[in-house]
Amino acid sequence: MTLPTTSEQHSEQDALKEAAADFAVTQLQSGMVVGLGSGSTARLMVAALGRRLHEGLRIVGIPTSEQTADQARALGISLSTLAEYSRIDVTIDGADEVELGTLHLIKGGGGNHLREKIVATASSRLTIIVDETKLVSRLGSHAKVPVEVAQFGWQATARNLSKLDANPSLRLSSEGQPFITDGGNYILDCAFGPIESAIALERELDSIVGVVEHGLFIGLATQILVGTHDGVKRLDLESPRA
Ligand code: A5P
Repeated sequence: MTLPTTSEQHSEQDALKEAAADFAVTQLQSGMVVGLGSGSTARLMVAALGRRLHEGLRIVGIPTSEQTADQARALGISLSTLAEYSRIDVTIDGADEVELGTLHLIKGGGGNHLREKIVATASSRLTIIVDETKLVSRLGSHAKVPVEVAQFGWQATARNLSKLDANPSLRLSSEGQPFITDGGNYILDCAFGPIESAIALERELDSIVGVVEHGLFIGLATQILVGTHDGVKRLDLESPRA
């Protein structure tokens, strides 16, 4: 038996992500206001949306990052902001981890979770598109929790995070400089390991001064579309948020 090479594994994973992304876009209808997520899976979704425009689909997109906005604009997708629309019909986004059973998430691997969370909380539905490697029984099993912090006094914020056994490390850019988010902040990647109570941790992170936003998305996802080798599987929450 020949084992797949790393690049074959990657393209296989991309195909699964693409299948989930395509499925999510087929759920859209003309006239909808759609939150556009960020990251590699969301990028595939925006590309699929661009293809649907040629078939006559008309939506207004609310992007969650400058990168997504640039991609959407280049594809001719109409964009707007939360200043114009108080409610978004559905947001489609990726995730770093999805907890089976609760559908709680870790997001922010790309550093966009602040805008992603603002858009997600303004949305009636949040559809998450992932491949099956992102499913975990406990959040924190593989992914670190990204915590966006104010640049001012970030070391003090890091010390307070350490008290929660966060093992924070300052995210660096490929040039070795501190990574700066679209909002002009730093990111501390926190290695909690498997998280016993994501709800309790969310509360603790929310109470630390200097934390702008963290990547725990609790009770926000309404539907998960998982690209698997047996097709796209749907994990749904019972009812959409009011
Ligand atoms: C962006 O900051 C993130 O929240 C992404 O949605 C998440 O990291 C998933 O990214 P990929 O689709 O690239 O795995």
